[in-house]
Amino acid sequence: MIRFLLGDERVEVDDVDPNTTVLDWLRASGRVGTKEGCASGDCGACTVTTVHLAEAPVDSAADTADLDYRPVNACIALLGSLDGCQLLTVEDLADPVTGDLHPVQRAMVDRHGSQCGFCTPGFVMSMFAWMHGEPTTDRHDVDTALSGNLCRCTGYRPIIAAARDVATARPTDRFDAAATTTAASLADLAETRADDAAASLAHGGRRWTAPRSLHEAITVLAEEPAATPVSGATDLALAITQDDRRFGTLVDLSRVPELHVLEVDEDRIVVGAAVPLVTAAPVLATHWPAVTELFERYGSVPIRSRATLGGNLSTASPIGDSPPLLLALDATVVVAGPDGRRRVAIDDFFVDYRRTVLAPGELVAAVEVPTPSDGWFLSVSKVSKRLDDDISAVCGMFHLALSDDVITDARVAFGGMAATPARARACEQALVGGRLDDATLEAARTALADDFSPIDDMRASAAYRTRVAGNLLERAVREARGEDRLRVTTAAT
Ligand SMILES: Cc1cc2nc3c(=O)[nH]c(=O)nc-3n(C[C@H](O)[C@H](O)[C@H](O)COP(=O)(O)OP(=O)(O)OC[C@H]3O[C@@H](n4cnc5c(N)ncnc54)[C@H](O)[C@@H]3O)c2cc1C
Ligand code: FES
Ligand code: FES
Repeated sequence: MIRFLLGDERVEVDDVDPNTTVLDWLRASGRVGTKEGCASGDCGACTVTTVHLAEAPVDSAADTADLDYRPVNACIALLGSLDGCQLLTVEDLADPVTGDLHPVQRAMVDRHGSQCGFCTPGFVMSMFAWMHGEPTTDRHDVDTALSGNLCRCTGYRPIIAAARDVATARPTDRFDAAATTTAASLADLAETRADDAAASLAHGGRRWTAPRSLHEAITVLAEEPAATPVSGATDLALAITQDDRRFGTLVDLSRVPELHVLEVDEDRIVVGAAVPLVTAAPVLATHWPAVTELFERYGSVPIRSRATLGGNLSTASPIGDSPPLLLALDATVVVAGPDGRRRVAIDDFFVDYRRTVLAPGELVAAVEVPTPSDGWFLSVSKVSKRLDDDISAVCGMFHLALSDDVITDARVAFGGMAATPARARACEQALVGGRLDDATLEAARTALADDFSPIDDMRASAAYRTRVAGNLLERAVREARGEDRLRVTTAAT
């Protein structure tokens, strides 16, 4: 059984196919305010808000800070993921007694932010979650908050104006007023769960289970070799919604405490495999400011609310964004399985197209990233057809050790250039020992062309990929010389 709050009401669900998405469940239950546009996490029409007890204890005087509001793409969130949280949809926003619109809805009306209205519930729920964080009128903040929401007919100007009105007014709402009650209800759900069996759903021979320890997760996977682990489901759910696949047993890792570590010591940052990117990215960015833009362009806020590094690594996608970064930073992947834990250098993790060293029954438990060393410089570049919410055509990471203007060591890695995320070894060799001058740059560019034989696909042609990889190298060398960053962010085939 799973238990969650739907609005203010406590709901228990048991006998439902675990492959059901939150969106399908809502609409089948008659809550049809949440719309389906793409069913693949791309358009934002299905955005809902999930509310959680904040992970870090905060000042008890600030009631609303105890709760964490996250925008989520209901079309690719599995129903089981709701266990223990509050789900709010557009139907919950207007005042149930007076019928008054919520301040976010009022701002959208006042600014004429809606025409056909299909995208509107999604925009409203994204703005609603953002309003319960730290909204500002800064255009970049507003664009980031709305980045996963597409509108085909209104145009974004009035919607952005509505968001800015909300950020200016910083209104409190009935959810703030009820924060203490909601927090108590969520704590009660957590207590009930602690006294009860692990959360589960079962229907028609299929099941979803949410182990509460790493040992339990590994045991389930050992007992059922055909079972599939799932974290944020931002990749896995596409198999359900786009390929019509159904999973027999899903083992949800998002409630395994050992996979939620987030530790920083002198030498390394340890990021648990199930930590959502919205939490992990700011910690990495504190140490590596260059990664800020990469993670801001990693999907959208709703995607990053659920996507994890564990999931990103395990897909071994050649166009995933974290693998080339972790290759350049010389990370270590901590793997857990029936025989205990082992540490795998990231260089050895990807073995073939969409294949990793993970043996059956093994999981990614964490990623260890060395903290920055003196003299090292990092340049990070993602090139995609669309600036926001798009998968990379080419992703280039350049990690250079510098002594004066001489490159003494280099780790250069790319996504989008080969069947796996990969180091550019010939390029690295050409850089090491060279000065940060045009001669070294040209030698490294020539070597880089020998490193990869990229493919033509819908994201970019092989020729484009080769050319842009060299341009990103040039950008990195120029940045290392102290020149302003060259802006090259969108791709054309
Ligand atoms: C609209 C959209 C935009 C996206 N944009 C980007 C982007 O910009 N950059 C990018 O890199 N990716 C992007 N993605 C892909 C996806 O969001 C990422 O790969 C994400 O990090 C996957 O994490 P997850 O927790 O959701 O994985 P899940 O979907 O839960 O799992 C993915 C796979 O990994 C396995 N798995 C999950 N966790 C573990 C674990 N700990 N150990 C072993 N196996 C595990 C699952 O069985 C599954 O096969 C996007 C996806 C969507 C839908
Ligand atoms: S329906 Fe498009 S993101 Fe969910
Ligand atoms: S109002 Fe029609 S898609 Fe946005």
